[in-house]
Amino acid sequence: MNASACSFPIVCRVWKSSIGRKLIVALTGLVLVLFLAGHLAGNLVVFLGPKPFNDYAEFLHHFLHGAGVWGARLGLLAAVALHIAATVSLTAENKAARTAYAKETNIQASTSGRIMIWSGITILAFVIYHLMHFTLHLGNAYGGYQDELGRHDAWKMVIDGFSVWYVSAFYILAMTLLCSHLSHGVGAMFQTLGLRSKKSAPLVTAISKGYALFIWLGFISIPVAINFFGFGR
Ligand code: HEM
Repeated sequence: MNASACSFPIVCRVWKSSIGRKLIVALTGLVLVLFLAGHLAGNLVVFLGPKPFNDYAEFLHHFLHGAGVWGARLGLLAAVALHIAATVSLTAENKAARTAYAKETNIQASTSGRIMIWSGITILAFVIYHLMHFTLHLGNAYGGYQDELGRHDAWKMVIDGFSVWYVSAFYILAMTLLCSHLSHGVGAMFQTLGLRSKKSAPLVTAISKGYALFIWLGFISIPVAINFFGFGR
């Protein structure tokens, strides 16, 4: 991108520098990390039963007269698009120039670091499937489910959705790769933001691995409870 022929020179300058794109990956990654924690907290309300979970789903859909959910969707879409575009651009540039970026950190050498692109692609495929499954209700009847108050029965949707074992198996596989992606990605985010030094490296590693494990256990607890402990059935 030519910064002089650009309508937003600052944006073009940030995008042109590899540090700028790394910052974009880190900051959009932070948005997605925070979304995951919030989404997990909301999902765990499923264990409180149908009414609390449907109350929560209704609150989300009506927050700010419905504008809240659309604001969050647009923000998430922008974060995902920028995260992918900046990563693809950095990877292509590094491959072409064979710079030291790929080997610049010792955390990059881990298995999670090496498979970042594959775990990322699987998570993207999972999110597309997940939206078709629970948001657009493509190929299922979940959109017509109603609870006793006449609201959308999101609780029954989750129980029925995960009662199909191979759907649960795909979710668990995707969340395992999400855990791998986070265990490397959160550490890399600290590094880019200048928060990882030799001294703080063990703490940063513990935080990224701990967060990834927490997210993994939290998300898989729902399909595991339904398939192995008969929860909701
Ligand atoms: C046990 C695991 C999960 C459950 C039970 C679950 C459940 C749900 C439910 C009920 C919705 C709302 C559908 C609606 O009413 O519109 C939703 C939306 C969504 N979920 Fe999940 N989810 C899980 C895991 C994940 C993961 C791991 C991610 C990301 C990697 C994710 C990303 C999203 C996104 C982006 C939306 C769209 C929000 C919207 O625009 O409606 N979910 N999920």
